[in-house]
Amino acid sequence: MEFFLPDSDATDALGRALAATRPTQAVVHLRGDLGAGKSTLARALLRALGVQGAIRSPTYTLVERYPLPDGEAWHLDLYRIGDAGELDFLGLDDAVATLWLVEWPERGRGSLPPADLAIDLAVEGDGRRARLMPGSETGRGWTARLATTPTCADHLSNPCRKIRQVMDN
Ligand SMILES: Nc1ncnc2c1ncn2[C@@H]1O[C@H](COP(=O)(O)OP(=O)(O)OP(=O)(O)O)[C@@H](O)[C@H]1O
Ligand SMILES: [Mg+2]
Repeated sequence: MEFFLPDSDATDALGRALAATRPTQAVVHLRGDLGAGKSTLARALLRALGVQGAIRSPTYTLVERYPLPDGEAWHLDLYRIGDAGELDFLGLDDAVATLWLVEWPERGRGSLPPADLAIDLAVEGDGRRARLMPGSETGRGWTARLATTPTCADHLSNPCRKIRQVMDN
Protein backbone atom coordinates (compact mmCIF):
# COMPACT_ATOMS: atom_id res chain seq x y z
CA MET A 1 0.00 0.00 0.00
CA GLU A 2 1.44 3.38 -1.01
CA PHE A 3 0.69 7.00 -0.26
CA PHE A 4 2.09 10.25 -1.57
CA LEU A 5 2.25 12.71 1.32
CA PRO A 6 2.54 16.21 -0.19
CA ASP A 7 3.32 17.96 3.11
CA SER A 8 3.81 17.24 6.79
CA ASP A 9 0.07 17.69 7.44
CA ALA A 10 -0.47 14.68 5.20
CA THR A 11 2.09 12.72 7.22
CA ASP A 12 0.13 13.69 10.35
CA ALA A 13 -3.10 12.52 8.72
CA LEU A 14 -1.57 9.16 7.92
CA GLY A 15 -0.50 8.91 11.58
CA ARG A 16 -4.06 9.62 12.71
CA ALA A 17 -5.49 7.07 10.28
CA LEU A 18 -3.01 4.45 11.54
CA ALA A 19 -3.99 5.24 15.13
CA ALA A 20 -7.69 4.95 14.37
CA THR A 21 -7.27 1.51 12.81
CA ARG A 22 -4.50 0.05 14.97
CA PRO A 23 -4.59 -3.52 16.21
CA THR A 24 -4.46 -4.37 19.93
CA GLN A 25 -0.73 -5.08 19.74
CA ALA A 26 1.71 -4.21 16.97
CA VAL A 27 5.34 -3.62 16.12
CA VAL A 28 5.96 -0.89 13.53
CA HIS A 29 9.33 -0.39 11.85
CA LEU A 30 9.81 3.12 10.43
CA ARG A 31 12.49 3.11 7.75
CA GLY A 32 13.97 5.87 5.64
CA ASP A 33 16.84 8.34 5.43
CA LEU A 34 17.49 11.21 7.84
CA GLY A 35 14.62 13.66 7.50
CA ALA A 36 12.31 11.23 5.72
CA GLY A 37 9.50 11.91 8.19
CA LYS A 38 9.69 8.93 10.57
CA SER A 39 9.42 11.03 13.75
CA THR A 40 6.67 13.18 12.26
CA LEU A 41 4.60 10.06 11.62
CA ALA A 42 5.36 8.55 15.03
CA ARG A 43 4.42 11.80 16.83
CA ALA A 44 1.12 12.10 14.96
CA LEU A 45 0.26 8.51 15.81
CA LEU A 46 1.09 9.01 19.50
CA ARG A 47 -0.88 12.27 19.68
CA ALA A 48 -3.88 10.58 18.09
CA LEU A 49 -3.67 7.89 20.77
CA GLY A 50 -4.05 10.60 23.40
CA VAL A 51 -0.42 11.20 24.39
CA GLN A 52 -0.17 14.71 25.84
CA GLY A 53 2.77 16.91 26.64
CA ALA A 54 6.14 16.76 24.95
CA ILE A 55 6.91 13.91 22.61
CA ARG A 56 10.69 13.93 22.72
CA SER A 57 12.90 12.40 20.12
CA PRO A 58 14.41 9.22 21.60
CA THR A 59 17.65 9.82 19.71
CA TYR A 60 19.79 9.81 22.89
CA THR A 61 17.61 7.82 25.29
CA LEU A 62 16.93 5.18 22.59
CA VAL A 63 13.40 4.73 23.95
CA GLU A 64 10.56 6.93 25.22
CA ARG A 65 7.59 5.19 26.82
CA TYR A 66 4.02 6.49 26.91
CA PRO A 67 1.11 5.03 28.88
CA LEU A 68 -1.93 4.09 26.82
CA PRO A 69 -5.30 2.96 28.15
CA ASP A 70 -4.39 -0.59 27.16
CA GLY A 71 -0.66 -0.76 27.89
CA GLU A 72 2.27 1.34 26.69
CA ALA A 73 3.53 2.78 23.44
CA TRP A 74 7.29 2.65 22.97
CA HIS A 75 8.96 5.05 20.58
CA LEU A 76 12.50 3.95 19.76
CA ASP A 77 15.16 5.65 17.67
CA LEU A 78 18.15 3.39 17.19
CA TYR A 79 20.21 5.77 15.04
CA ARG A 80 22.84 6.19 17.75
CA ILE A 81 22.85 2.67 19.15
CA GLY A 82 26.32 1.14 19.33
CA ASP A 83 25.19 -2.39 18.71
CA ALA A 84 21.85 -4.14 18.80
CA GLY A 85 22.75 -5.90 22.08
CA GLU A 86 22.31 -2.59 23.94
CA LEU A 87 18.58 -3.07 23.52
CA ASP A 88 18.73 -5.98 25.95
CA PHE A 89 19.82 -3.56 28.71
CA LEU A 90 16.95 -1.12 28.35
CA GLY A 91 14.67 -3.26 30.49
CA LEU A 92 12.03 -3.40 27.80
CA ASP A 93 9.34 -5.91 28.62
CA ASP A 94 7.28 -6.68 25.56
CA ALA A 95 4.34 -7.85 27.65
CA VAL A 96 3.43 -4.22 28.45
CA ALA A 97 4.02 -2.75 25.00
CA THR A 98 0.90 -2.64 22.92
CA LEU A 99 2.61 -0.51 20.30
CA TRP A 100 6.25 -0.31 19.19
CA LEU A 101 7.29 2.52 16.87
CA VAL A 102 10.91 1.94 15.88
CA GLU A 103 13.03 4.37 13.87
CA TRP A 104 16.21 2.91 12.37
CA PRO A 105 15.10 -0.67 13.11
CA GLU A 106 17.89 -2.09 10.93
CA ARG A 107 20.33 -1.05 13.71
CA GLY A 108 18.53 -3.24 16.23
CA ARG A 109 18.48 -6.34 14.09
CA GLY A 110 18.52 -9.50 16.18
CA SER A 111 17.26 -7.78 19.34
CA LEU A 112 14.00 -6.37 18.03
CA PRO A 113 10.72 -8.14 17.40
CA PRO A 114 9.87 -8.45 13.70
CA ALA A 115 7.59 -5.87 12.16
CA ASP A 116 3.86 -6.39 11.91
CA LEU A 117 4.01 -3.33 9.72
CA ALA A 118 7.09 -1.84 8.04
CA ILE A 119 6.72 1.71 6.74
CA ASP A 120 9.28 3.03 4.26
CA LEU A 121 9.41 6.80 3.92
CA ALA A 122 11.30 8.55 1.14
CA VAL A 123 11.62 12.13 -0.06
CA GLU A 124 9.79 12.70 -3.31
CA GLY A 125 9.83 16.22 -4.68
CA ASP A 126 8.64 18.54 -1.90
CA GLY A 127 6.78 15.70 -0.20
CA ARG A 128 7.26 12.11 0.87
CA ARG A 129 6.26 8.69 -0.39
CA ALA A 130 5.13 6.15 2.20
CA ARG A 131 5.08 2.44 1.46
CA LEU A 132 3.31 0.23 4.00
CA MET A 133 4.36 -3.40 4.05
CA PRO A 134 2.60 -5.80 6.42
CA GLY A 135 4.80 -8.53 7.87
CA SER A 136 2.15 -10.55 9.68
CA GLU A 137 -1.58 -11.28 9.81
CA THR A 138 -1.85 -8.43 12.30
CA GLY A 139 -0.24 -6.08 9.82
CA ARG A 140 -2.40 -7.30 6.94
CA GLY A 141 -5.52 -6.69 8.99
CA TRP A 142 -4.27 -3.20 9.80
CA THR A 143 -3.66 -2.17 6.19
CA ALA A 144 -6.99 -3.70 5.20
CA ARG A 145 -8.77 -1.53 7.78
CA LEU A 146 -6.75 1.47 6.66
CA ALA A 147 -7.84 0.91 3.08
CA THR A 148 -11.50 0.99 4.05
CA THR A 149 -11.31 3.93 6.46
CA PRO A 150 -13.94 6.38 5.28
CA THR A 151 -12.27 9.30 3.51
CA CYS A 152 -13.90 11.98 5.60
CA ALA A 153 -14.54 10.22 8.88
CA ASP A 154 -14.21 12.35 12.00
CA HIS A 155 -10.57 11.62 12.63
CA LEU A 156 -9.58 12.47 9.07
CA SER A 157 -9.29 15.99 7.79
CA ASN A 158 -8.27 17.67 4.56
CA PRO A 159 -4.74 16.29 4.41
CA CYS A 160 -6.15 12.81 4.56
CA ARG A 161 -8.15 13.50 1.44
CA LYS A 162 -4.83 14.28 -0.19
CA ILE A 163 -3.34 10.97 0.84
CA ARG A 164 -6.46 9.09 -0.17
CA GLN A 165 -6.35 10.49 -3.66
CA VAL A 166 -3.10 8.74 -4.34
CA MET A 167 -4.28 5.51 -2.80
CA ASP A 168 -7.38 5.53 -4.98
CA ASN A 169 -5.40 6.09 -8.18
N1 LIG B 1 5.05 14.61 3.77
C1 LIG B 1 5.97 15.54 4.03
N2 LIG B 1 6.31 16.47 3.10
C2 LIG B 1 7.25 17.39 3.37
N3 LIG B 1 7.94 17.48 4.53
C3 LIG B 1 7.65 16.58 5.49
C4 LIG B 1 6.67 15.58 5.28
N4 LIG B 1 6.60 14.81 6.41
C5 LIG B 1 7.51 15.32 7.27
N5 LIG B 1 8.16 16.37 6.74
C6 LIG B 1 9.23 17.20 7.33
O1 LIG B 1 10.47 16.52 7.25
C7 LIG B 1 11.33 16.97 8.30
C8 LIG B 1 12.05 15.83 8.94
O2 LIG B 1 11.08 14.99 9.52
P1 LIG B 1 11.40 13.95 10.69
O3 LIG B 1 12.15 14.58 11.80
O4 LIG B 1 10.08 13.34 11.01
O5 LIG B 1 12.36 12.91 9.94
P2 LIG B 1 13.00 11.57 10.48
O6 LIG B 1 12.80 10.55 9.42
O7 LIG B 1 12.49 11.24 11.84
O8 LIG B 1 14.55 11.91 10.55
P3 LIG B 1 15.69 11.28 11.50
O9 LIG B 1 16.20 10.04 10.84
O10 LIG B 1 16.74 12.37 11.51
O11 LIG B 1 15.12 11.03 12.86
C9 LIG B 1 10.46 17.76 9.26
O12 LIG B 1 10.76 19.14 9.07
C10 LIG B 1 9.05 17.44 8.81
O13 LIG B 1 8.16 18.50 9.05
MG1 LIG C 1 13.43 10.88 13.66
